[in-house]
Amino acid sequence: MGPITELTQNVTALQAGVAAAGRIREVEAIGVEPSAPTVAPREDPARETRPAPVLAFRGVTARYGPDEPPAVRGIDLDIPRRGHTAVVGPSGAGKTTLFSLILRFLEPEHGELLLDGRPYRAWSHEQVRARLAYVEQETPVVPGTIRDNLRFAHPDATEAELREVLTAVQLDEKVDSLPDGLDTPLSSTEVSGGQRQRIALARAMLRTPEVLLLDEATAQLDGLTEAALHECIRQRAAVGAVVTIAHRLSTVLDADRIVVLDGGRIRAQGTHRELLAADDLYRRLVEALRIAADRDVASVATV
Ligand SMILES: Nc1ncnc2c1ncn2[C@@H]1O[C@H](COP(=O)(O)OP(=O)(O)OP(=O)(O)O)[C@@H](O)[C@H]1O
Ligand SMILES: [Mg+2]
Repeated sequence: MGPITELTQNVTALQAGVAAAGRIREVEAIGVEPSAPTVAPREDPARETRPAPVLAFRGVTARYGPDEPPAVRGIDLDIPRRGHTAVVGPSGAGKTTLFSLILRFLEPEHGELLLDGRPYRAWSHEQVRARLAYVEQETPVVPGTIRDNLRFAHPDATEAELREVLTAVQLDEKVDSLPDGLDTPLSSTEVSGGQRQRIALARAMLRTPEVLLLDEATAQLDGLTEAALHECIRQRAAVGAVVTIAHRLSTVLDADRIVVLDGGRIRAQGTHRELLAADDLYRRLVEALRIAADRDVASVATV
């Protein structure tokens, strides 16, 4: 029995190894992003002095695969250097795709994106991403302590900087109450969905990015998280650009301008009031957020 058991165990180990090797080869076969700009940056003094929007889409069409229909088409959009831009639209409208394009996870098929008025091709992926911070919808936390999570992109951040962002997201008291404080491993603590999102937000707020991209969680978050989220958005929007994919009415109402996306196209843009008056779909989306009339809008806005 002994040798036979050993033999079957080894066959199992061999099979696992073969499968793992196959997956490693798959990863190795994936193309590597170019580390340098694909065209030399052209210095154009006239352009530099003009206050270009920090990000711009010019006739952008993109699809996920050669056989897939375009996920977004003919997108023309400017993201100003300051203020809060909210993107709303039905599920599958292409909202997350817009973020993937900004972050260069996906390349446009037609058209181009501009950063500081210069095409993305003239920047390296690293240069573009260094200007952005992204809070995902399903906020992941990395294995390690709270400190590791916060310093993920900036390992040299100081204690004072960490404290500042924790205060901004109203997690300072929670962290102080833990026996090991910032050195508490995240797996050992019970972190709620709201706290995870606040940790991700604190990570994104560290070293104040120029553009904060926030894909709001669809799940209902607690009031404290919602309040912390809005305070952070407001603070960042005063000095930089914030783009949110809004799933809550309070975020939509907070925005300086709103972009309505439908079927991969921009359908309308404007303020809440303008869109409420002019756009059917926007009205329906707002209604779906359980707001039918201005009376309710006012009451929610004051909460
Ligand atoms: N990785 C992917 N591969 C193939 N198709 C995709 C992929 N991601 C999104 N799509 C398709 O692109 C379109 C736009 O999707 P996107 O994720 O941008 O929608 P969304 O507006 O963010 O929706 P939601 O509100 O549900 O998050 C959809 O038709 C979707 O099926
Ligand atoms: Mg999405």
